[in-house]
Amino acid sequence: MKGTWSDRVFVAEHPLIQHKVTLLRNKRTGSKEFRELIQEITELLCYEATRDLPLGEIEVETPICVTKSKVLSGRKLAFVPILRAGLGMVDGAIELVPAARVGHIGLYRDPETLKPVEYYCKLPLDIEERTVFLTDPMLATGGSADAAIGFLKARGVKNIIFLCILAATEGVERLQKNHPDVDIYAAAYDDGSLNEHGYIVPGLGDAGDRIFGTK
Ligand code: PRP
Ligand code: URA
Repeated sequence: MKGTWSDRVFVAEHPLIQHKVTLLRNKRTGSKEFRELIQEITELLCYEATRDLPLGEIEVETPICVTKSKVLSGRKLAFVPILRAGLGMVDGAIELVPAARVGHIGLYRDPETLKPVEYYCKLPLDIEERTVFLTDPMLATGGSADAAIGFLKARGVKNIIFLCILAATEGVERLQKNHPDVDIYAAAYDDGSLNEHGYIVPGLGDAGDRIFGTK
């Protein structure tokens, strides 16, 4: 897929993704369509982010003959959404890699301080052996993703990839500084500053509220 890579950040350029991001930005897009779009974009992003997964070869019998053919091998995967908006990305991801495990990290951003507050963490027991795709639609100040990556590293996880829909400059720079080993895949990049409430501009508003219809 076409996209631009810079300092471990991949921003998708695929026309389908750009079109779907525009629909997400539109404030008139309702929750049902918003959820479907998040899921579709996640599938497309995940396709790109899994490009380097290692392959092995097995023998398979086709209706015509026996042949050798490739299968995913080696690395075990996990998807870990940051609750709650990250949940909206899990169905799309697990659709592509059904054997992956799913963990959950619960964080919300304090509206006054914009600092992440942890309220839940449940991860697969063997999480340290897995490549973890951490999902959250929004990378704004980067505080939530920074903290979630910190939890994963504290549990021994070595391979972490962050998948988001919209990335803002502040959040990208924070992750690049604090976690230079983590690749970031974003469907779009908004390079303006955040507004006074810490929302991405132009952004798409509050992702959790739009996914779950809470406002
Ligand atoms: C949103 C979003 C991220 C976070 C991004 O979650 O889903 O987790 O804000 O902002 P940051 O990069 O400045 O940390 P929110 O705190 O609104 O919680 P929610 O998912 O429960 O709505
Ligand atoms: N969280 C959101 O849901 N949206 C933003 O723009 C920033 C943080």
